[in-house]
Amino acid sequence: MPELILGVESSCDETGLALYDSERGLVDEVLFSQVDIHAVYGGVVPELAARDHVRRLPLLWRELRRRTGQRRADAVAVTTGPGLIGALLVGVNFARALAYAWQVPLIPVHHLEGHLLAPMLAGILPFPALALLVSGGHTQLIAVHELGSYTLLGESVDDAAGEAFDKAAKILGLPYPGGPALADLAASGDGRRYRLPRPMLDRPGLDFSFSGLKTAFRLQAEGLPQRDPQARADLAAAFQEAVVATLCEKCRRAIEATGMKRLIVAGGVGANRALRQALAQLAEAEQVDLYFADLAHCTDNAAMIAVAGAQRLGAGRSPLETVAVRPRWP
Ligand code: KG4
Ligand code: ZN
Repeated sequence: MPELILGVESSCDETGLALYDSERGLVDEVLFSQVDIHAVYGGVVPELAARDHVRRLPLLWRELRRRTGQRRADAVAVTTGPGLIGALLVGVNFARALAYAWQVPLIPVHHLEGHLLAPMLAGILPFPALALLVSGGHTQLIAVHELGSYTLLGESVDDAAGEAFDKAAKILGLPYPGGPALADLAASGDGRRYRLPRPMLDRPGLDFSFSGLKTAFRLQAEGLPQRDPQARADLAAAFQEAVVATLCEKCRRAIEATGMKRLIVAGGVGANRALRQALAQLAEAEQVDLYFADLAHCTDNAAMIAVAGAQRLGAGRSPLETVAVRPRWP
């Protein structure tokens, strides 16, 4: 029987709601980005994030109801972690209230599993597969044996890829959030002009490190010629190339080490065009099938939480009172 799942996302600075039909797919979604609220501070202010989720969630639910004509769902899936504790609590209590009122199951969703399953919104996602998860908080290579069965193969020992993008952008004086702005600037640059390190490529293994690259980038940025605007774009391009080359090489190693024939790319940095192109080339060379989330579902959204919840619904239901937030959740 088809079931309608309401997805709720509020783990950071995006407030999202989505209705997902277990047979027909995504019905509709609404998303509010708090970027303007945090931009003046140059980063997410947790308390402001939580307060705005409180204001926004009822308004978004009214909007989604109006657009879909749906007044209830058969289950509510909510991000319970990892994320900002105050922000998570708002979404979880909102979801809990609806689930209680409707007397339907409440499904806790791990935010990263949401990212990982986001490509399901665009089509089928077969397992086993290798997954590259690149977001603002995480950079991980994961072996996905089947739904819910994951082995962490490698991860960043310091900054996440998205965080590195954001910090590099800040060094160049680009507006928050920096990742997309830096990518835009890089598009008009020539990365060959500057030499930046390719982190961790000289070492075996599948872990990542981006803090050394950030330091090298900062040093180059401080010496940028004032009268040469092209230099900024070239440096941005060199930075992007270094990150992309590192991510691709680690994926190549993981493909060779595991023999897996599928690669899933998920998380905010998965929206980066240079990365998508480079991974497409890698996939062709290594003869693996590549699965991306569509651009809108790479960054935080509730549709990915709803689709992950739909997958979990069959697997078991948690009683309302056992659903708790987990700001840190390995
Ligand atoms: O997955 P996400 O929306 O949030 C987390 O769960 O962290 O990822 C956000 C991160 C930010 O660091 C943002 O700068 C980065 O993804 N990002 C990008 C691009 N779009 C988003 N980084 C590089 N190029 C992009 N096009
Ligand atoms: Zn995320």
